[in-house]
Amino acid sequence: MVTTIEEAKPLEFTPAVERATAAAYDRLKNVIPDVEWPVHAPYIAAINELKRERNAILLVHNYQTPEIFHGVADYAGDSLGLAQEGAETDADVIVLCGVRFMAETAKILSFDKTVLIPDLGAGCSLAASITGEDVRQLKKRHPGVPVVTYVNTYADVRAETDICCTSANAVKVVESLGVDRVIFLPDAYLGRYVATQTDVELILWDGTCEVHERFSAEEIRDYRKAYPGIHIIAHPECPPEVLAEVDFVGSTSGMIKHVGETQPKQVVMITECSMSDNVAVEYPEVDFIRPCNLCPHMKRITLPKILHSLRHLEYEISLERDVAERASASLERMLEVGRN
Ligand code: 13P
Ligand code: SF4
Repeated sequence: MVTTIEEAKPLEFTPAVERATAAAYDRLKNVIPDVEWPVHAPYIAAINELKRERNAILLVHNYQTPEIFHGVADYAGDSLGLAQEGAETDADVIVLCGVRFMAETAKILSFDKTVLIPDLGAGCSLAASITGEDVRQLKKRHPGVPVVTYVNTYADVRAETDICCTSANAVKVVESLGVDRVIFLPDAYLGRYVATQTDVELILWDGTCEVHERFSAEEIRDYRKAYPGIHIIAHPECPPEVLAEVDFVGSTSGMIKHVGETQPKQVVMITECSMSDNVAVEYPEVDFIRPCNLCPHMKRITLPKILHSLRHLEYEISLERDVAERASASLERMLEVGRN
């Protein structure tokens, strides 16, 4: 990776920057230490100015750090929300602050737009666990069984797929097919969770999320002992024995909505660490106990890299048109299920 001027030499925290970012600071002051603000603020001001000049939209996943999530996002959400927003935007440039499979979703749904990711190395252990060829082999082994693929996969895998899903709509998508059996790829834990919510039989792959698989049932029981009465909510990429111990299971946005609706006194979110910081900004009266399992891929995205991305229109996601078209059909089918 080339070190750019804007990464090597920090921007200055001038009085004009301070004024331009005062509202953002007010939101973030409880989760970002004072000493860090003069480092982030000049980038926030520069990014917000440049994205207007470029007619660019910044789509930000819930796992991004608070200065990105609250400082520069035009839309922040889960994979489903990012896909829906990317499909509808009339911006010329989409900068995806998340991981590469999310940027591929945006490119597939807006093939003629410029779709950028600030760091091409932002991968995902689930997406890396399976290839298009693996799916072709599975289809040969189970002829006629429809393939449901989690969006945490690359375009070549989705091109072999009947319909995509996210953690927010997986059960609805599986049931929308009206069949007894589906191939469900690639997250074995999400698949096992979906199997508890439906009578449809699922043929699974053995992919896992390197962040969520680290949580254990013992850790959950320890939270209950240490914080009596605590509300525990988890992402369905966690192992089944973890999900069996928690009070609510949902996608990242599902978890955020749940906190808003229930306003627990004390909560722990069993998921990537930035989530708690981002949600704590919205609900200062809720006490968040914060586990810290971070996603190294999500954390590759930083404010200096976002600025670089907008200045130099890097790094562009490019896909072969026929692969994108086939992948688009499986994504469009998923979005259609959401509309019904
Ligand atoms: P969500 O779709 O729930 O945001 O999940 C994406 C992801 O990568 C979780 O690890
Ligand atoms: Fe992939 Fe897990 Fe990171 Fe999400 S948290 S991007 S599933 S490795």
